[in-house]
Amino acid sequence: MQAKLQELQAGALAATAKIDNIKSLEDLRLKYLGKKGELTAILNGLGALSKEERPLIGKLSNEVKAAITAALDQRLTALENQEIQQKLASETIDITLPGRRIPAGRPHILTTTRAEIVEIFSELGYTVADGPELEDDFHNFEALNMPKDHPARDMHDTFYIDDGRVLRTHTSPVQIRLMEKGILPLKAIMPGRVYRCDADVTHSPVFHQVEGLVVGENITFGDLKGTLELFLKRMFGAQRKVRFRNSFFPFTEPSAEVDVECFVCGGKGCALCKNTGWIEILGSGSVDPNVFRAVNIDPEKYTGFAFGLGIERIAMLKYGIKDIRLFYASDLRFLKQF
Ligand code: DAH
Repeated sequence: MQAKLQELQAGALAATAKIDNIKSLEDLRLKYLGKKGELTAILNGLGALSKEERPLIGKLSNEVKAAITAALDQRLTALENQEIQQKLASETIDITLPGRRIPAGRPHILTTTRAEIVEIFSELGYTVADGPELEDDFHNFEALNMPKDHPARDMHDTFYIDDGRVLRTHTSPVQIRLMEKGILPLKAIMPGRVYRCDADVTHSPVFHQVEGLVVGENITFGDLKGTLELFLKRMFGAQRKVRFRNSFFPFTEPSAEVDVECFVCGGKGCALCKNTGWIEILGSGSVDPNVFRAVNIDPEKYTGFAFGLGIERIAMLKYGIKDIRLFYASDLRFLKQF
């Protein structure tokens, strides 16, 4: 009986050492110590032993039970620890990983260019005004000295709306709306969207202009020259040459187009400036007396000058952009360059 118990203990300890998961360990506990377990069977049979044998075997049985229980418990603790370690290892969060950056936007190059223009004129004391993009014939043409049969209307490639109104073809109608308010003297720029039915690499059906208007007593063509020269040198650099060239607009008299030294060849002559060395940058002139009459301003008392320029055109020349459609294509590879 003693030998049998020792054999049982040795077998149980060896089996326990080999167990590698908690479920099997519990099965093993039942096999030896459960109600129908092998050691339990021996303990239950103690009553059948002789008086001399009973205390000896009883004591030994208890020692064997304690040894097996201790081995099982020790193994259980080890397996539980192992399980926790595995879980911790598989669930670790690497807090040293850098977070994902939210891509930062930036102002569109046309927004930046407009802001730059507004900034320069604001410093000169100009206010900023705007007007409707859906405009009537009077403000877009008639009051600007372009009556119904005027040939200059053809150059505007106008989008007409069914009710007789138009999508404004330039920002000049805002001049009329400002002067109609009758608050003089005035000095304002008017940036905004304009529309023309025209599309190629340098023309877009929707584009942007900035209009300028100064009205007061004793405003001269010299004021126009000084103002625009200062603006263009701020915009394109103090070294860049500027020239005024005689031109015609229905709403100004006299009129001038303003050129700056070519951006590519610096005046030597190239494909961009068609070998002239000059790039046309804006239109301007002294306000035509007929325009003043249309808004009930006395041309004998007041004089003024006006100018208009295209924001896309300025940005294209300044940054060497060859295709106007790039501004509206929302291609980040293009937009991120500025
Ligand atoms: N409105 C003209 C255009 O869109 C630009 C322009 C030229 C505006 C001369 C002016 C000006 O105020 O004086 O083509």
